[in-house]
Parts: sequence; structure tokens; C-alpha cells
Amino acid sequence: MSTATKPSSSVVKRPQIRQSECFINGQWQPAASGKTFETVDPATEAVITQVAEGDAADVDLAVTAARRAFEDSAWSRMDARDRGRLMLKLADLIEAEAEELTALETWDNGKPIRDARAADLPLAVDCLRYYAGFADKIQGETIPVRGNYFTYTRREPVGVVGQIIPWNFPMLMVAWKWGPALAAGCTIVMKPAEQTPLTCLRLARLAQKAGFPDGVINVVPGYGPTAGAALVRHPGVDKIAFTGEHLTAQTIMKEAAPTLKRLTFELGGKSPNIVFADADLEAAVAGAHFGLFFNQGQCCCAGSRVFVQEKIHDQFVERIVAMSQSRRLGDPFDVQTEQGPQVDRNQFDKIMKYIELGKKEGARCVAGGDRFGDRGYFVKPTVLDQVTDQMAVAREEIFGPVMSVLTFRDVDEVVQRGNNTFYGLAAAVWTRDVSKAHHMARRLRAGTVWVNCYDVFDAAAPFGGFKMSGQGRELGAKGLDGYLETKTVTVALD
Ligand code: NAI
Ligand code: MG
Repeated sequence: MSTATKPSSSVVKRPQIRQSECFINGQWQPAASGKTFETVDPATEAVITQVAEGDAADVDLAVTAARRAFEDSAWSRMDARDRGRLMLKLADLIEAEAEELTALETWDNGKPIRDARAADLPLAVDCLRYYAGFADKIQGETIPVRGNYFTYTRREPVGVVGQIIPWNFPMLMVAWKWGPALAAGCTIVMKPAEQTPLTCLRLARLAQKAGFPDGVINVVPGYGPTAGAALVRHPGVDKIAFTGEHLTAQTIMKEAAPTLKRLTFELGGKSPNIVFADADLEAAVAGAHFGLFFNQGQCCCAGSRVFVQEKIHDQFVERIVAMSQSRRLGDPFDVQTEQGPQVDRNQFDKIMKYIELGKKEGARCVAGGDRFGDRGYFVKPTVLDQVTDQMAVAREEIFGPVMSVLTFRDVDEVVQRGNNTFYGLAAAVWTRDVSKAHHMARRLRAGTVWVNCYDVFDAAAPFGGFKMSGQGRELGAKGLDGYLETKTVTVALD
């Protein structure tokens, strides 16, 4: 479908699969049930390998190991600076295996190798290094209280944490979760997404090589309702950090109620990307394209509602259509490829349904709209024009390469419509007017607002959702809060 002439290609080789079992207490072991599940290459629909299918029994072993490790002096008494050094070593090992890790990520997830190399891997390494530097800088306060007392606070690790991650950025989500947990001194039981367990397992191998004590990091691959739910219910787990769909978070909240676990959530979005007529149009078009199509549209913060000011609508649409039609789809192992397949058949089917629904509801499909090729879960970059607020494609998370274009007249209107969603993860504004940019940044109800840019992430900048897009923040100093308890110590002075 690509109209662009294809530059000469260079195709990266598939790596060897080295880890596919549960990693519990420093040991690689099959699931207690002996069961396995298939992980599939979304570009070819071929099975990559069988992976241990952990469930409640394996989760219980892993939680027991994590509890023991949390209490064991090898970890609990380790100097904070040495904890940081272990994390730096892990980051170095990841960097040293970059070729193999990025190829593994591309195979399991389908994302273009160029993205895995330019984004996933370097961001993961950077995140671990950022939090490694925090390990010895977690400190309490001294507090002036009435009477002759000395009062201070200590910031202590919350304990054993269960971490449940999705498939869209498998390796990066490991770093976002392990970074603050390890810096805080917690121990970990992670359940990777069933679609993409391979890089998480490889990172566990590297953590073992780096020298983390047994039981500090455990990985139990498996399905959500079995392995995931067991982790959520387990009384030995102090906190759950979850990234995924809001409906799953609602289930987790209910399941976690009996044990009153701490919960942090990073959920979905329907983020407004707002283009004013006074914007640099080239930049806004490129930003809207990147903000939606990056990672096959599988981003929690995807700019999926593109609001374009009426008077530039036609120019904008003409350019965004041309750009989406020149996007290079194909083999994700080809270094020139810009868009690979969706992660699995479910996601592919869901996206195709939304495209049909959008057309039925009266949107005009001006680019894409159907499958690419006849093998693998590829969807052409799709642009729906003349979308209105009440259409399903403007309200529900599609999580695929489907852009909805809406038009607006003025600031108040677009603020109201932009905020008219139960989500609140991200938003963006394109304008040359500095005052308008800050005004919009204040009024948009979202955890992140980008001005004249999109998807700019940094390990130091907190990320998370307002409203039903999440609870708590990841990254930055704020990202540590979810992994720490505050203890108040009061000493009588005489
Ligand atoms: P999901 O929320 O079901 O899965 C995410 C993780 O949660 C996976 O590891 C899964 O095994 C686990 N999980 C599922 N059910 C669970 C349960 N009852 N208890 C504990 N853990 C459980 O998301 P899914 O089904 O992969 O995708 C569905 C939709 O969710 C997507 O189409 C997309 O709209 C959205 N999504 C949003 C993401 C984000 O980054 N905000 C990431 C992935 C999906
Ligand atoms: Mg699900």
C-alpha cells in the first residue's frame, strides 16, 4: 500500500530464545502444573516458542521467595548505594545485549526494530540508571513537634510488590516497574503480558547475572485471570502496580479489597491532540502522525482525538493523509520499516471492528481502512475525518493505527470537548501563541500536556493519569512514592 519508494533494506536476524520458564528464587523452573502456552510472532502468525504457564501455585512460591528476600539481610541490610550499583550493572548488561534484546522485542511484539533500538531499549536503560541514582537519596525529614521530643520520618520500602504489565512496551514497562521498586528496596514478583513474555524473562536473566540476591526479582509468566489474579489476591503481597486496561484495574481493585493492598494504576486514554490555526502546520501534522501511529497506535497516551481548528481543517487533512499513506509497513525486522503488525489477533479484530463502526456512524475514511497484506496482524494507517464527539471512535480506546479528526472553533469549546471523557492521561496543544499554550495546559484535565511536541518521555518526568486513566505516578521522584511507606519516629529527649 505504501506509495513511497522503498529504500534498500537490511533485515535483522531473529535471536535465540534462551529463557522461557518461571524465574523464582534465582531458579529457572517449569510451572508447577507443567503447563505451557504459546507466544506468537504477530508478523507471521507463527509460534515462536512455548512459555511456562504459571498460576496460583507458582505465584505462591514466588511471593514466598520475595518475602524471604525482603527480610533477608543480603537485601534489607545492603547499603543503598550498593543497591544502586547493582541497578547500574543491570543497565550496563542490558546495553551490552542491546542487539539481542531489541530483536527479541521485535519478534515477540511486532514493533519495528528501528523503534526498539531508538526508543524501547535506550529508554529502559535510562530509566534504570535514573532510579539507580535515587537509591541512596531516599530520605526522611526531621519535624519540629510540640514538647521535648525529637521526631523524624523514615522512608521505607513498602515490601513485596506484584507488578503486572502489558504487551505494548514489554521491556520498557519492566524498567518503569523495577526501577523505582529496586531503588526503594522492595522485592518483586512480576507477571509479564501473555502476548510478550520473552524480553522480561531475558531481563530477569540479566538481573541474575548482575548479582541481585535470589528472590529479589521473580518472574511468573501466565495469564491475567490465573497468574495475575493470584498475585492480586495473595496476602503476602503488599502492593500491586498495574498497567493495562481500566476494566482490568476495576477487577484488580475489587480483588485487592480484602487485603487492602496499595495500588497504583497506569491505564488507557483518549487523548486530545489540539491543533490551532496559528500552529506551525508542518510540525503539527508530523506531531499528530507520530503521536497516533507510533508503536502501531498501541500507546496508552496515543493522540487519538485530533482536534483541528476549522479554518485549517482541509490543509491539515490533506497533509495527514499524504503522510499516513507514505508510512512504510512491512517486516518489522527490516530496519526501514516504520510500522509493524498489531500485537495479536484480538487487537487486530478489535481495531477492524472500530474502523467499520466509525464508517457506519458517519465518519469519512480518508486513508487506510483495511488490512495490509494477507499474513500477520497488519492494519493500514487509517484516518477517519468528520468524526463527532458521540461516535464510539471518539469515545473509546481503539489502541491501533486509527486517527479520528474532529473540528473545533474556539478555545472554550475545545477545552470542554477535549475534557469530555472519563480518561485523562495526556493531551497536546499546537500553537505559536505562548499565552494560549499555557492557558490550555492549565485547563486540560490530563496527567501530561505536551506543547508543540508529542510523546516526549523522560525518566525524570512523572507520568500518569487523571480520572480513570490511573492512580499514582510513574517515573521521576513521584514514581517512588508508590513503593515507599513513611514511618514516623518520636524520641523523648528527657
Ligand atoms: P489487560 O489490562 O487485560 O492486560 C494487561 C495485563 O494485565 C496483562 O499482563 C494481563 O495478563 C493482566 N491481567 C488481565 N486480567 C487480569 C486480572 N483479572 N487480574 C490480574 N491481571 C490481569 O489488557 P489487554 O486485554 O491486553 O488489552 C485490552 C485493551 O486494554 C487494549 O485493547 C487497550 O485498549 C488496553 N490496554 C491499555 C494499555 C495501556 O498501556 N494503558 C496496555 C494494554 C492494553
Ligand atoms: Mg484483557
